Amino acid sequence: CGIVGYVGEQQAQGVVIEGLRRLEYRGYDSAGIALVDRGTIASDKRAGKLANLEKALQDHPLVPSTTGIGHTRWATHGAPNDTNAHPHLGRSGRLALVHNGIIENFAELRAVLEKAGHTLVSETDTEVAAHLVENELESGADLTTAMQNVCRVLEGAFTLVAVDAQDPSRVVAARRNSPLVVGLGEGENFLGSDVAAFIEHTREALELGQDQVVTITRDGVEVTGFDGSPSEGRRYHVDWDLSAAEKDGHDWFMRKEIHEQPHAVADSLLGRRTPEGLLHLDEMRLTDQELRSIDKIIIIACGTSFYAGMVAKYAIEHWTRTPCEVELASEFRYRDPILTPSTLVVAISQSGETADTLQAIRHARTQHSRVLAICNTNGSTIPRESDAVIYTHAGPEIGVASTKGFLTQLVACYLLALYLAQVKGTLYGDEIGNVLDQLHEMPDHIQRVLDGEQQVYDLAKEHTGSRSVLFLGRHAGYPVALEGALKLKELAYLHAEGFAAGELKHGPIALIEQDLPVLCVVPPQGRDQLREKMISGIQEVRARGARTICLVEDGDEAIAPYADVLIRLPKVPVLLQPLVAVVPLQLFACELATLMGHDVDQPRNLAKSVTVE
Ligand code: G6P
Repeated sequence: CGIVGYVGEQQAQGVVIEGLRRLEYRGYDSAGIALVDRGTIASDKRAGKLANLEKALQDHPLVPSTTGIGHTRWATHGAPNDTNAHPHLGRSGRLALVHNGIIENFAELRAVLEKAGHTLVSETDTEVAAHLVENELESGADLTTAMQNVCRVLEGAFTLVAVDAQDPSRVVAARRNSPLVVGLGEGENFLGSDVAAFIEHTREALELGQDQVVTITRDGVEVTGFDGSPSEGRRYHVDWDLSAAEKDGHDWFMRKEIHEQPHAVADSLLGRRTPEGLLHLDEMRLTDQELRSIDKIIIIACGTSFYAGMVAKYAIEHWTRTPCEVELASEFRYRDPILTPSTLVVAISQSGETADTLQAIRHARTQHSRVLAICNTNGSTIPRESDAVIYTHAGPEIGVASTKGFLTQLVACYLLALYLAQVKGTLYGDEIGNVLDQLHEMPDHIQRVLDGEQQVYDLAKEHTGSRSVLFLGRHAGYPVALEGALKLKELAYLHAEGFAAGELKHGPIALIEQDLPVLCVVPPQGRDQLREKMISGIQEVRARGARTICLVEDGDEAIAPYADVLIRLPKVPVLLQPLVAVVPLQLFACELATLMGHDVDQPRNLAKSVTVE
C-alpha cells in the first residue's frame, strides 16, 4: 500500500493526490483521502485506481485544507470495495486513519470494541485501529500520545498515519515492520511510504527506526518510541529527482526503465575500485576476518530478485569456491534452515521492504548469521537491519514488473562475488580486474541489444494470439528463462514457463505442440559442452513442432538451422550473459502486453512492494 501525509502551507488535497499518484505502483485496488477542516474530517475513498477517486473529487470537491492524509491500497483484509478503502474514521468521525500492513490481533481488539458498543462498518483491521486511537483522543490524550498508547497494544506489522479533526496542526504516524519515511520541507513536512511521495517538494528525508511514532507539524518533526521516549531518525539526501519519477516520453514507466538499464548498470558500477585497484562496497560492517570465516552463503529473495539470486549462485561458487544456496524468502524460516555465525545470508530486495525477505533476515540474525543486503532503496528496512549493504543505483523503479532493478541486482551480485573472492584470495587481483573490465563494458552491450528492439517488437506482434510460451536456458541462462516467463505472466497474463533445458526431456517436453513458441537462451561459444547440449534441446522441441526463437551470441552460426528466429546478443562471458540476454525478454513481455491492451505498469493483482507475509 502507499501512504501519504502532509501538513504545511499548500492545499493538502493536491499534495496528497499527487503523492498517491507517485505511490500508486505500491497498490491500486482502492484509494482515499482525508483532510482536516475546522473541527471536522472531510474524506472520500473509492474502489479501483486513483483515477476513480480523482473523478469523484472533481464532482464533489473537498473543502480547502492544509492538513491531510491519503492511501492507495493493495487489499489484504476485506475485498477492494469503497467501504474497505482507507481512510477509516473513528466512531465519532473525529479521527481519520490510514494503514499499511496487518494487525494480527485485530479480531480480539474488534471483539473488545464491539462489546463496548462500537459498530464497525468495514471488514478491515484498520478500522479497529481508528476506533482505538479515537477512544484515546476522547479520553483527553493528544494525537501523538493516543498513537503511542494504541501502538503498544497492536501486534503485527503496520504503518499508521492519522489526523485529528480538532488539531489541524499535526499529522501523526507510527511504524512497525512496515515502511514510512518523512520528507523535510520549509514550513511544511511530509510522510510517505517512500520518498516518491514527496520528491517533487523536497529531497531531504528522515529514515525512521522500528516501533517509532513521528509527529509532523509545519515547522517540526518529533520522533519518539511507542513508550513516548524521545528518539531520532537518520537524515539523508535523496540522490534522484522528480524527472526520475516521470515517464519521459515513453508510454510506460516499464519501457522507460528498460531503456535506462545501460545507465543504471553503469551507475551501479561507479566508484567501486579503490586507487589500489581493490573493490570496495558501500556499507560494510563486517571485517575481512569475519568474511574469511564465512563457510556458507544463503541467498534469500522473492520474485525477480530471487532469479537474480539464482544467477549469483553461479558466480559466487565459481569465483569464491564457497557453497551457496538460493532460497525463496517465504519458505526460508519455516524449514528450520541450518544457520551458524559463519553463514552469510544475502538478502536481495529492490524495495528493501518485502515482508517475506525481512522476516527471513530477522530469523537469520536470531541464529547469529551475518546478513548482507543488496537493495535499491536508501532508507528502507532491510538494509538497516543488515550487517552490510550493497546499494544498486537503479534510481526509482515504478513499473511493477522489475527490469532495471534486476539488472543492477545482477551487477551487485557479481561485485559481491568478486569482493568475497578478493578477501578469501580465491581469485588473483588481475582476474578480478578482468571481470571488472568486462562489467564496465556491459552498458554498451546492453545498449546494443536495446538498439535492436524493433525485431523483438515485431516478434511480439506475431504472438498476440499465443496462449502459452515456454523459455529454455542452461547454467546462468536458466534463471533468465525463469525471469522471461515471469515477465510474461505478470504483464500479459499468459501461461509461461521457464525450464532448465536439460530437464525438458524428463517431462515438460510433453507440453510441446505445433507452433508453440519456445524462447531459448543459448550459452555463448567457448562453453561448447553446455552449448551443444542446449542445441540438442532446441532440436528436440523443434522436431515436435515448436517454433524456436533463439537468443544467441553474435557470430554463432551453428544454431541457425534449428532456429525459426534468431535474436543476436553481444559476445560476453557466460556468467555475465544474463545482463544482455534478459533484455529482449523484458521488451517482448512489455510489447506483447501493450498490444494486448493491458496496463503494463500496474498489472492486475500485483503490487510493487509486498509488505505483508
Ligand atoms: C513483488 C513485485 C515483484 C518483485 C518482488 C520482490 O512481488 O511485484 O516484481 O520482484 O515483490 O520485491 P523486492 O522489492 O523485494 O525485490
